[in-house]
Amino acid sequence: MASTWSDNISFSVFGESHGPAIGIVMDNMPPGESIDMDKVMQFMARRAPKKDATSTQRREKDLPQILSGFLNGKTTGTPLCVLIQNTDQHSADYMKSKLDTLVRPGHADYTGALRYRGFNDVRGGGHFSGRLTAPICFAGAVASQILEKRGIYIGAHIAEIHKVKDDSFDSVACTREDILAVREKQFPVINDEKGKRMKREIEKARGFMDSVGGVVECVAINVPAGIGSPMFDGLENTIAQLVFGIPAVKGLEFGAGFNSAKLLGSENNDEFYVDERGHVLTHSNFAGGILGGISNGMPITIRAAFKPTPSIGREQSTIDMRDLKNEKIEVQGRHDPCVVPRAVPVVEAAMAIALLNHMLDYPNFR
Ligand SMILES: Cc1cc2nc3c(=O)[nH]c(=O)nc-3n(C[C@H](O)[C@H](O)[C@H](O)COP(=O)(O)O)c2cc1C
Repeated sequence: MASTWSDNISFSVFGESHGPAIGIVMDNMPPGESIDMDKVMQFMARRAPKKDATSTQRREKDLPQILSGFLNGKTTGTPLCVLIQNTDQHSADYMKSKLDTLVRPGHADYTGALRYRGFNDVRGGGHFSGRLTAPICFAGAVASQILEKRGIYIGAHIAEIHKVKDDSFDSVACTREDILAVREKQFPVINDEKGKRMKREIEKARGFMDSVGGVVECVAINVPAGIGSPMFDGLENTIAQLVFGIPAVKGLEFGAGFNSAKLLGSENNDEFYVDERGHVLTHSNFAGGILGGISNGMPITIRAAFKPTPSIGREQSTIDMRDLKNEKIEVQGRHDPCVVPRAVPVVEAAMAIALLNHMLDYPNFR
């Protein structure tokens, strides 16, 4: 089913960018979990557009209105339904750019029109909009709090924008403090000097009516060894399914990822040892904490590649879907010149939902 995902946890994301509201219904969430809604709001605020030239000028309050599944500060276990009102739609921009018939190169206008026979809401990208990541952040914020009570922390940062690279998390010894330090930042990078250069890249692209892409690195620490299953129900499978649900993601690596193809076995193997507390660890972490789809107790590390924002002000060739003729398009309206800074908590959310989903199989979950 299109926007429904179902395993131990299931959820359905609904709404359109310029409709009255968007939201999510989650089922099979563990009952009796205390959730701090202020913290949920803080998580969601990290996805909101930045108040500078690196983001869209669209301003949304993103107030989650909980309709069910939450009572006296705790999850009930029955469907958790949340509604987020859309309040700052400028649908006229879409008509100015003739986006009801001209399809934006790089966006889902063309494929969406084919899939839904032209009946889909195209305003603001409709159901394909990055706005639909707000409900995913709600779900991820709830899942993260449940995991944090069990000591599992998830953090992410902007690893690359265009050609500028941030430092990386320590894939072997990343700590809760490392994760929290980045989480508090307006522009979530480890190295702020590199962050300044990244911002300049984004502003430069915007100045040329263009856009840039980049990479988000995400890490999860203290995941117990033995979570996940082989073949089609592994941690990699689930994380990939959820991360590829985020619009504009075009690639995903676990651990050393594509670079592992260049290594020798002797370089890529993570050699085991037992530490003084009797814990089994590895000296390196090229596997990204996953072997055979199952966690090995080391940090789980992923890198998600985001393409440059499709909607750009530059003139490009396209087609008119109604008349089937060649046309030119210059996309007006408020768009993110780079989606990566706002996508950081969304990647964390996908990781949190995936891990909570598999943790529910864990005999000691409670
Ligand atoms: C947080 C976020 C914000 C986004 N903002 C925009 C935007 O302002 N303009 C745009 O054209 N695409 C934006 N996108 C990307 C499009 O939604 C996406 O490229 C489009 O739906 C096509 O899907 P695909 O790139 O996954 O194939 C955003 C994506 C995310 C994750």
